[in-house]
Amino acid sequence: MLTNEAVLNALRNVMDPDLHQDLVSLGMIKDVKVDGDKVSFTIELTTPSCPLKSKIENDARQAVLSLTEAKEVEINMSAQVRTPKAVTIDQNQFKHVIAVGSGKGGVGKSTVSVNLALALAQDGAKVGLLDADIYGPNIPRMLGIDRLPENVTGGKIPLAEIHGMKVMSIGFLVQNGQPLIWRGPMLHSAIQQFITDFDWGDLDYFIVDLPPGTGDVQLSLSQTLPLTGAVIVTTPQQVAIDDAARAVGMFEKLEVPILGIVENMSYLIMSDGSKLAVFGTGGGEHLASRTGITFLGRIPLDPEIGQGGDIGSPVVLLDETNPSAQAMREVARKVAAEASIKAHEAKGQG
Ligand SMILES: Nc1ncnc2c1ncn2[C@@H]1O[C@H](COP(=O)(O)OP(=O)(O)OP(=O)(O)O)[C@@H](O)[C@H]1O
Ligand SMILES: [Mg+2]
Repeated sequence: MLTNEAVLNALRNVMDPDLHQDLVSLGMIKDVKVDGDKVSFTIELTTPSCPLKSKIENDARQAVLSLTEAKEVEINMSAQVRTPKAVTIDQNQFKHVIAVGSGKGGVGKSTVSVNLALALAQDGAKVGLLDADIYGPNIPRMLGIDRLPENVTGGKIPLAEIHGMKVMSIGFLVQNGQPLIWRGPMLHSAIQQFITDFDWGDLDYFIVDLPPGTGDVQLSLSQTLPLTGAVIVTTPQQVAIDDAARAVGMFEKLEVPILGIVENMSYLIMSDGSKLAVFGTGGGEHLASRTGITFLGRIPLDPEIGQGGDIGSPVVLLDETNPSAQAMREVARKVAAEASIKAHEAKGQG
């Protein structure tokens, strides 16, 4: 006769390919029910953006169907973002803090940040996006929002909300085109206030768009919030790669784990579907393998990405078949998977 125990034993043979442990010992299997030859259960993933979702579901189904008595399997896929220690600051709770940085300016950090945040929110995660580029805040334009809502309660300051995520940028507080000149301590307290004084609530992913380089903002952020990790954006050109390597060195010095490297503006998709490597090939991947860092993927050089940034309509909002939207979404899911892996490793150490 088919029992819950037999089902669980079968599922002990199914590995999470990222976490290298079986689904049962990872505590991902919930609500097992057996009714005659019918089995149902829930698989609770560590992120709604899991890139291996359908593989895990398939493997689990096959494992249960390998029991001769089982004829029908119903699997409910769910997700609960896990972390060994969520950071709670002033009633705001952040499960994963992910900074997006680069050495060189203009390589696409803000573009990647916006699309990454949005893709995670589209998958069902609770997401906040902080524009920490206090010298050149571009997020307002990229999302088509220019102000915070009115603070009627007088409590924590409400954030701008768009496409299901919360957003803060210094751009909401200063007039268009005004330059911002900050000195170290002022800048540090600004970063702290962005985190503590605003109503972020409970977030699965807090995405922070950094200014270029290896300076004060990076330092302040890493001193204010323990980061799950950093995502490094580069373009294929050697000068960008050189600067990305410097950014890698900086995060290592600050003891911030690196989730991976994204190569942006990798290639142009030609009208016949072929790819033209405008700035050369393999730079980002080579840097990743040289430094032992995960390569998160390539994003095409695409006028739709650029225009999307200009008109406040990020490319992941385009339909699912759009190649640039797909590339962004794949990178986002890889980032989520890497964050889950880092959290799992940290748990192992703790
Ligand atoms: N893959 C892409 N295809 C086309 N245009 C892109 C792509 N990525 C970014 N852009 C455009 O390039 C410009 C620079 O991108 P973005 O502002 O994201 O870079 P950044 O690294 O954040 O810059 P900064 O260092 O100034 O903060 C923007 O106009 C953006 O729309
Ligand atoms: Mg930027």
